[in-house]
Amino acid sequence: EEFSGEGVWRYDAALPVEREVTIDEGATPLYEVPRLEDEVGVESLRIKHEGMNPTGSFKDRGMTVGVGVARRLGVDRLACASTGNTSAALAAYGGRAGMETLVLLPAGKVAAGKIAQASLHGARILEVDDNFDTCLDIVQDLASRGEAYLLNSLNPFRLEGQKTIGFEILERHREEYGEFPDRIVLPVGNAGNTAALYKAFRELVASGALDEEDVPKLTGVQAEGAAPMVEAVENGWDEIERWEDVETRATAIRIGNPVNAPKALPGIRATGGTAVAVSDAEITDAQRALAGEGIGVEPASAASVAGLRKLRENGVVGSDERVVCLTTGHLLKDPDAAAAAGVEPESVPGETEGVLKHLDE
Ligand code: F0G
Repeated sequence: EEFSGEGVWRYDAALPVEREVTIDEGATPLYEVPRLEDEVGVESLRIKHEGMNPTGSFKDRGMTVGVGVARRLGVDRLACASTGNTSAALAAYGGRAGMETLVLLPAGKVAAGKIAQASLHGARILEVDDNFDTCLDIVQDLASRGEAYLLNSLNPFRLEGQKTIGFEILERHREEYGEFPDRIVLPVGNAGNTAALYKAFRELVASGALDEEDVPKLTGVQAEGAAPMVEAVENGWDEIERWEDVETRATAIRIGNPVNAPKALPGIRATGGTAVAVSDAEITDAQRALAGEGIGVEPASAASVAGLRKLRENGVVGSDERVVCLTTGHLLKDPDAAAAAGVEPESVPGETEGVLKHLDE
């Protein structure tokens, strides 16, 4: 009804705290991708690029709210486990709030850009000789002992901020097409974003702003090497088992224990969505396809498009659908993955004739 602020804070009526700790997050683009839309073969395809947030991922939407609440509560130390993006966002928003931040990262499995951010924004960085899920176990222990305030997506205030992705997609899509999207496809790690989108839709339905039958189908995508949610969907929805060994080049979603599954699985099910796993090669192909249309994303983000391709090929997604794919993080988050997926630089001599000769070859 009444909108006041901008970006995330445009929706402050649906948020639990005032706009205090902010770096102008949200209001991200909803890009057209005509060639990819044609190739995939759907009625329409839009890319909601969350990499265009201040620290380059959707985590900023959660942190502007979560860190705001933490400052109000007067806690001393903020902490998270992270595959990288959460730590970058926590470091930046904690710094902005003038608070101490501690991040636990799986050693050797976090992309370079993300560590650089956490480092320069001044977080204390602990590299744990284990995977993300163990890092999260430890941070939960620290939080329950009163050593730190937890800002992973188990913190409900984080998810309140991330609901605004859903609000923005629905509002903008209807402005442009006169209707809501049929389906939203997103990468899944801890399934926090999936849970947040579902909560956004439920609140809109409860307020009368959205009809039940217009709720988009939530469709989650995981990497084949880290796909416990997909397994749970295939095994009848009710039980999810933690994967101890996970591996994928999409390190952001290298997660075996999706802690928000109890909130996210019912959302996927109730909206008529599904979950699908994609290979690292399919993720890289999708990353290239997006880059070819000028949209630079990190590998985990490209999983959404890879998943859509797969679901279109196997007929789960129909040609009449209007689809939005969420790309969660910026290309520069993982420069090594981008360089490996891209074209090789060529060596030439430092004079024009030599360059021309090389171009002719
Ligand atoms: N995409 C990116 C780029 C991410 O960084 C994450 C999660 C996800 C997707 C999955 O989102 O957990 O809500 O299902 N990154 C967390 C982190 C785990 O520590 O940065 P989810």
